[in-house]
Amino acid sequence: MLRTRILGTGFVTGEHLVKNEALARVMDTSDAWIRERSGIEQRYFVEAGTSTSDLGLGAARKALDDAGLKASEVDYIVFATMTPDHFFPGCGALLQNKLGLGHVPALDIRQQCTGFIYGLQVSDALLRSGQAQTVLLVGAEVHAGFMPWTQWDHLFGRPGPAPTAEEKAWNSKFRDRTVLFGDAAGAVVLRAAEGERGLLGFKVHSDGTGFEALYVPSCGFAQRPYVTAGDLAEGRHIPQMNGKHVFKLAVTRMPQVVREVCAANGVQVRDLDLLIAHQANLRINEAVQRALELPDEKVFNNIQRYGNTTAATIPIALDEARRAGRVKEGQLVCFVGLGAGFHWGAALLRA
Ligand code: UT7
Repeated sequence: MLRTRILGTGFVTGEHLVKNEALARVMDTSDAWIRERSGIEQRYFVEAGTSTSDLGLGAARKALDDAGLKASEVDYIVFATMTPDHFFPGCGALLQNKLGLGHVPALDIRQQCTGFIYGLQVSDALLRSGQAQTVLLVGAEVHAGFMPWTQWDHLFGRPGPAPTAEEKAWNSKFRDRTVLFGDAAGAVVLRAAEGERGLLGFKVHSDGTGFEALYVPSCGFAQRPYVTAGDLAEGRHIPQMNGKHVFKLAVTRMPQVVREVCAANGVQVRDLDLLIAHQANLRINEAVQRALELPDEKVFNNIQRYGNTTAATIPIALDEARRAGRVKEGQLVCFVGLGAGFHWGAALLRA
């Protein structure tokens, strides 16, 4: 049986560690609220000028080192992000250039929080059909550009103006979302090999009805011009989210799709050794764990330290879980995620 194996993993974060308390410098929020509602304690943001493809490069280099491969051995790049450096082109080609590769294909995936799982499925198809030999799959995000505040120095604890009362009120309008996100990138290097180990199967879904429960209203070609001064003044360039609706979707569809991928591959949920879910909210993941009746030792969460890094959460968690000895050869690992689109899905790996 030809199966796709994960040969190496790696991740990097934005340069600035921002604890919950620091966020209270720029908006009305508190460490207690953020911890209680989301489980998040801190996140990282990039320095101005660092982009998604820069973080992707850092993660790619680490994953290649971990795999013991040279960048020149990569013959396909798959790059998942919802925060690309530019409207176009996507980050795949930018990463190819930064890695100094030749004309290897570079595909961009835009499935938001499920981007890494869709990326795994596409990479697996490319590898097992012989169209690629070594795929570099990256999930990376710089959410800093979505943030409504301008007082970055003050946030980072450097000399700089604090927000006025009016500015703080503006920043606080978006606080339900902005406290959740962080900047980071994760990468994996994939190759197919004969044997029992590797990716066993996938189940992915999309549902465009109700997409407005999580989307960016402007900066799109449904309007002319695609971004206006009014958009910026009214914050339509910042994601809009019906948090409770997304929460409910996540806690119902993630367990469902885990059950589906297990059933389709002839394994029981109780056979799973580790569940690595997208890190959007610790409360969501705790509910998913309860629904699947999995004990704590079979679940890995790290949102406390990174926040929601969208396409990067799963490869970062996988890298940390591997380094913590939580992914042993032969174990059964399940990845699951749900996000804007809406897209959701799960993948099974025999490590
Ligand atoms: O990757 C997928 C992306 N998104 C998700 O998965 C998000 C899923 N949803 C969630 O995680 C939760 O809905 C949130 C964490 C976003 C919000 O939690 P919630 O329990 O749904 O809170 P809420 O938005 O209903 O707000 C409850 C209260 C409100 O005050 P009142 O009206 O009760 O007085 C908010 O104004 O909490 C207030 N609030 C805050 N207070 C302090 C909202 N955000 C904050 C904040 N700090 N950051």
